[in-house]
Amino acid sequence: MKVVITGGCGFLGQMIAKAILKRGELRGPDGKPAEVDEIQLFDQLAPVTPFSWADKRVTTVAGDISDKATVASLVDRDDVSVFHLASVVSAGGEKDFDMAMRVNLMGGLNILDAARARGSVPRLVFSSSLAVFGGPDLPKEVDDWTRHTPETTYGMTKAFGELAINDYTRKGFIDGRTVRLPTIVIRPGVPNAAASGWASGIFREPLQGKEHVLPVHDGFYMMLLGYRSAVEGFLAVHEAEGAAIGPDRTVCLPNKAYAVAQMVEALERVAAEERLKLGPITRERDPSVEAICGSWPLKMDSTKARALGCPEDADLDSVIRGFIEDFL
Ligand SMILES: NC(=O)c1ccc[n+]([C@@H]2O[C@H](COP(=O)([O-])OP(=O)(O)OC[C@H]3O[C@@H](n4cnc5c(N)ncnc54)[C@H](O)[C@@H]3O)[C@@H](O)[C@H]2O)c1
Repeated sequence: MKVVITGGCGFLGQMIAKAILKRGELRGPDGKPAEVDEIQLFDQLAPVTPFSWADKRVTTVAGDISDKATVASLVDRDDVSVFHLASVVSAGGEKDFDMAMRVNLMGGLNILDAARARGSVPRLVFSSSLAVFGGPDLPKEVDDWTRHTPETTYGMTKAFGELAINDYTRKGFIDGRTVRLPTIVIRPGVPNAAASGWASGIFREPLQGKEHVLPVHDGFYMMLLGYRSAVEGFLAVHEAEGAAIGPDRTVCLPNKAYAVAQMVEALERVAAEERLKLGPITRERDPSVEAICGSWPLKMDSTKARALGCPEDADLDSVIRGFIEDFL
């Protein structure tokens, strides 16, 4: 079977591709395990990727998700699955409303329609975000029945995507699933335009002996999940029986909130164990970052995800150790 990953040259897209290569098979549209013989990474950045793809199963295609014809051409086999990750991210969407609408809304519909047009009812996993929630009246803990009240254009487009996935699935056009993510850490390389970028930078830069300029105060909490658990979560949701997900196709991945001070403690603990000299963390509060990240919840109920086999992190220390092992 073929796997298309939109936004496939980004942080999570590449991690998912690597995990699929290692696994070698996924469930096809008929629900039976099938060998993956082709992974196509579709991205506006292709072929600029931090990983080198020596594996001949992987190809990269450069293009814009809002280009309907190009997106339609990606879904060119019946035995296909799609991971839809291409997106303008939070602060990027606040800067450029029109781009967020074009890429996230129109681009999202393009890939849904491409999968629908195939006629084989492919599995399509959409990457949503905790940013579907927001606002001063939001409870700090949310569950599957908490109303969507996004405080960013990005969050609005993700909420729209979740509803579209439900409806395209209800109509029998695709077998859609949404993975709703907390902030995923530790992103390697350079930050993207996400307002949450500091939650990776606070670990990544000091671990490499570089300075991190922290835009939030030390008592600030963020809901996190390590990328290893996140990638396993994407795959578990892809592989799940549709009936186990139910008519609301959204699955909130496991998550835990940490204060900045706890992040720094974990970082110092692991650095001491590994005998690493940390770069400095300096403070320069950015009200726009605090406003966006502060509008998000601190806990999402992930009962459904855990029942589907999505793992949670043992602790923050293990997430940092994993990053050191994978990237340093
Ligand atoms: N990483 C997180 O903490 C997090 C949290 C919540 C949700 N998400 C969602 O998960 C997905 C992946 O996140 P990520 O951290 O890997 O982000 P990323 O920025 O690393 O990857 C997104 C990719 O999408 C591509 N892209 C953007 N616009 C495009 C366009 N017009 N056409 C084609 N490609 C385009 C980018 O070039 C990029 O490679 C996104 O949908 C994001 O909204 C991520």
